[in-house]
Amino acid sequence: MNGAAEPVTASNLVYVPKAAEIAREAGARLREYFAQGVETEYKGDVDLVTVADRALEKLIRTRLGEAFPEHGVYGEEGTRERMEGEFRWYVDPLDGTTNFAHGFPQFSVSLGLEHRPARMKAGEDGTLVAGVIYDPMRDELFTAERGQGTRLNGKPAKVSRTRDLAEALLGTGFPSRKRHASPNIHFYHEFTLRSHGVRRAGSAALDLAYVACGRMDGFWEFHLNPWDTAAGILLVEEAGGRVTDFSGGHFRLSSDEILASNGLIHDELIGFFGDMFAGRNLAPIPTPEEFARSRDRGTKGTREKGNRSSG
Ligand code: IPD
Ligand code: CA
Ligand code: CA
Repeated sequence: MNGAAEPVTASNLVYVPKAAEIAREAGARLREYFAQGVETEYKGDVDLVTVADRALEKLIRTRLGEAFPEHGVYGEEGTRERMEGEFRWYVDPLDGTTNFAHGFPQFSVSLGLEHRPARMKAGEDGTLVAGVIYDPMRDELFTAERGQGTRLNGKPAKVSRTRDLAEALLGTGFPSRKRHASPNIHFYHEFTLRSHGVRRAGSAALDLAYVACGRMDGFWEFHLNPWDTAAGILLVEEAGGRVTDFSGGHFRLSSDEILASNGLIHDELIGFFGDMFAGRNLAPIPTPEEFARSRDRGTKGTREKGNRSSG
């Protein structure tokens, strides 16, 4: 993103409290839907959408319109309002729909605010000035204002101090659509071997919030959308972390790649992405067939051992 800090003015100090209030209201509704169980539809082949996604985007759009009638709103469920506005909210009313629909309690509401001065062209990124991510199941509110740091339930939050990838806990996610076109399972495999582990928890916004507050040391994903990332990017940057593409280049909201970390392991991560893309230094693991052969040998061995000991 464009890191040029916007001056903090009295007016932009109202954005986070208002967005937090809206995210909490939406989160309370999500808790109710979650307790009742919701009907599920499919947007595409396997892309789920629930009544909650649509109802909550409507609620958030209405509340933002009441609070900031000049601001644009760009939401996952189709909202495109006042797109020429100087400020634009990126809204994911329910990040983690698959979890939500299965009763798996890891999902969030994400609201990120971009400042787009009038001279800006359509494809250019403005400056992220406010970000709010709310986890309604844990009642955790992650907030950031440009230049003012990141907070978790009002207390300052910082990225971790882990310096080595080998000691890092990482996160990633997989697309719900066109999964056959995604190479991410190869990255998942490599990073699982090179780190303390990789979590695939199902809400990219929360993954970014977790990097921001030091629960994870890094996160990467292919093909996210601005409603998934806008708030989380600001959280990570304001907590002292770094966000780029996989080559260390400038991150844009339209980027197909996001790499976020505590900053300390970022260069190491970029180095491994370089190796992966070049097919260098990959760590082999047994194929299922190879494993099946050793498994057969292992099973027979165990059975023989078992027979011997019982005999
Ligand atoms: C999804 C989640 C998930 C990520 C997917 C996203 P949705 O968002 O953020 O963690 O892996 O790529 O599409 O569809 O639940 O809002
Ligand atoms: Ca999402
Ligand atoms: Ca969503």
